[in-house]
Order: sequence, then structure tokens, then C-alpha cells
Amino acid sequence: MKTVKVNASKAYDILIGEGLLDDSGKLSAAVVAVGKVCIVTDDTVAELYLERALRSFKEAGFDAVSFTIPHGEASKNTASLISLLEFLAENRLTRSDSLVALGGGVVGDLCGFAAAIYLRGISFIQIPTTLLAAVDSSVGGKTAVDLKAGKNLAGAFHQPSLVICDHKTLDTLPPETFADGCAEVIKYGVINDRQLFDLLKSKGIKPIIEDVIASCVKNKSNIVECDEFDTGKRQLLNLGHTVGHAIEICSELTISHGSAVAIGMVVVTKAAVAMGICQSGDLFELKSLLSAFSLPTECPYSAAELANIATADKKRMGDSISFVVPYGIGNSRLLKINVSDIEDFIKKGI
Ligand SMILES: NC(=O)c1ccc[n+]([C@@H]2O[C@H](COP(=O)([O-])OP(=O)(O)OC[C@H]3O[C@@H](n4cnc5c(N)ncnc54)[C@H](O)[C@@H]3O)[C@@H](O)[C@H]2O)c1
Repeated sequence: MKTVKVNASKAYDILIGEGLLDDSGKLSAAVVAVGKVCIVTDDTVAELYLERALRSFKEAGFDAVSFTIPHGEASKNTASLISLLEFLAENRLTRSDSLVALGGGVVGDLCGFAAAIYLRGISFIQIPTTLLAAVDSSVGGKTAVDLKAGKNLAGAFHQPSLVICDHKTLDTLPPETFADGCAEVIKYGVINDRQLFDLLKSKGIKPIIEDVIASCVKNKSNIVECDEFDTGKRQLLNLGHTVGHAIEICSELTISHGSAVAIGMVVVTKAAVAMGICQSGDLFELKSLLSAFSLPTECPYSAAELANIATADKKRMGDSISFVVPYGIGNSRLLKINVSDIEDFIKKGI
């Protein structure tokens, strides 16, 4: 088992190992009060892992109940949030009780937000079961639900008390969901971890999954510790996301998030090469690695279509948008681009 420590406004551990789900109750008992606990999950994950999680928490002395939502992004909404809050109140959870998010990023974001606001805030534990949740959403304390006007528009910063990542649970992921998470893994390499990038090139991911997850969450926690509330350095984590988000919207969500981020990373890297701030060899390496992980690298949309959506992006600050741009593999920086120059910038990358 590997442990990564996060020293944000609240300190907590990320535990990564095979089979940790069966010890999740005991591990949680070391960091939260052994009282009532509500395990929040989705129907797919419930079928696979809820019974084992409930058993573990009960064996550790918790009075454990569960709340299950239908799987998918459509459940990350205010209706699910209110149902969950009502469920917690009906089951009389108190300020010393806890929530547990057992699932992917959808469950983690919803459960975390409920924990942030129920009784003005109670503790919660993340048990990520997708690669994306393991390397990204379970760490760093961003919680949210979607509104009709867009994704993640209502939320709070609320750090978990513990993250328990049993990477054996990733074995049941559909290949395309696993590949989506791989885009986020490669992203950490391009942002600031050349060593991780090279490791992925030489060994792939599955044989070294525990080390890879540990490297990713170490990278994320380093950034979160510098900028927990996302006013500067944390924006680096958006590499590939501004263009990626526009691609997802152009495709009416038929292109998955991970695939869109992969293409988004290629677009900004190619633009950086055209601007003379990144070497063409870096672009070649990035495209080769993404292809090796079954991720796409070609953008099916025009610069005009993407720029139109990107300029409405929530990360826009006044007259410019900060793009994360690789100056080389393992060396990405924020680059402010004027709204009037964005189409031209994206055109360089297509
Ligand atoms: N809070 C953050 O910092 C942060 C960061 C990145 C993404 N997110 C959010 O994360 C969400 C996406 O997360 P996701 O990609 O994990 O999606 P998800 O939670 O919808 O999970 C994807 C699918 O995999 C299934 N699944 C989960 N674990 C499984 C397993 N072990 N075996 C088989 N099937 C399994 C789920 O039922 C679901 O159908 C988005 O809502 C996004 O906004 C949040």
C-alpha cells in the first residue's frame, strides 16, 4: 500500500492499494468518529461493490446505511442533492457522522457537496472506483452539482477526511471509461512530470497502476497545497480542458471527456509548436503516447466552432482566457490569450 499525504487547509491521507475496500471501515474508523455513516453510490457500482463496503463499515462498528443514484452525469443535479440531504435527515445523521462516496467522479462530487452543506458541513471519505476519480476528482476538495445552465455551477470546496483507493476495483471498468482516465494521467506527465510520462511510455499503465496513481495524486496534491481555492497555479490542471470542453459541446457529448481532453492537449501543444515555444518532438511524443493509450489525437471541428464555445467558457477572465500550454513535456505554463486572438491560436493547433 502507498500513502500520499495532502496538506491542504485540512490534512488527510490518500491510501492506494489492492483490496483496500474490504478494510475501508477499519481505515475510516482511524480518522472519523465511529457513528452513523451513509455510503453514497450509483446503481452500477452498488451492484459490484456496495455489499463489501457496507460489510466492512459494519464490522468496524459503524451504523451504515446507503443511498444509490442512477449512474451517469445526469444524476449530478440538484434533485439528487436534495433527495440525498432529505435521506440524511430522515436517518438522523448528526454533525459527528460521515458520508462515504463509493464510485466515480459523479458520486464523489455529489456526495462531497452534500457533506459540505448538510448541517453546515460534516466529514466525508472518498472511495474512488474509476481511474479519473482515483487520479483526479477524489483529491483536492472540489465538490459540485450541475445546473441547467452548465456543469459544476453549484458547489463548494470541502476536503475529504480520507481517500481510500482500491485499484483492484478498476478491473471492472469498461475499456473506454478506463481510457478516459488515462487522458488525465497523461495530463499530469505533460504538466510537470517528465518522469511519469517516460514511465507510461516504457511500461504502459496496468502493470504499474499503484505507482502511477500515487504519482498523479502527489502531483495534484502539490498543486492543491499551493492554490487550494483555484486562483492561480491550480488552473494548470485544466491542460487540454478549455479546447476539450468545446469539443465535448460541439459533439453533443458523443465524444467522451477523456477523448476530448486528449485532443485538447494535442491542439494546445501544436499551437505552442507553431508559436515557437515548444519543440515538434514533444508534440510527436504526446501524440504517440495518446495513441498507445487508445486515445484520439485529431480534432474533427474547426477553429471557429471551438473558439465560439471557448470564449463563453467559465474560465474566461474579462477580455482573455488563460490556456495551459506545454513549453515541453513536463513543463506547462499558463498563457493569457486575448479573446480576439483565440480563434487564431486554436487554428495554429488544428
Ligand atoms: N471534483 C473534481 O475535482 C473533479 C475533477 C474531474 C472531474 N470531475 C467530475 O467527475 C465526473 C466524471 O467522473 P467519472 O469519469 O468517474 O464518471 P462517473 O462517475 O459517471 O463514472 C463513469 C461510469 O463508470 C461506472 N463505474 C464506476 N466505477 C466502476 C467500476 N469500478 N466498474 C465498473 N463501472 C464503474 C459508473 O457507474 C459510470 O457509469 C464529472 O462529473 C466531472 O465533472 C470532478
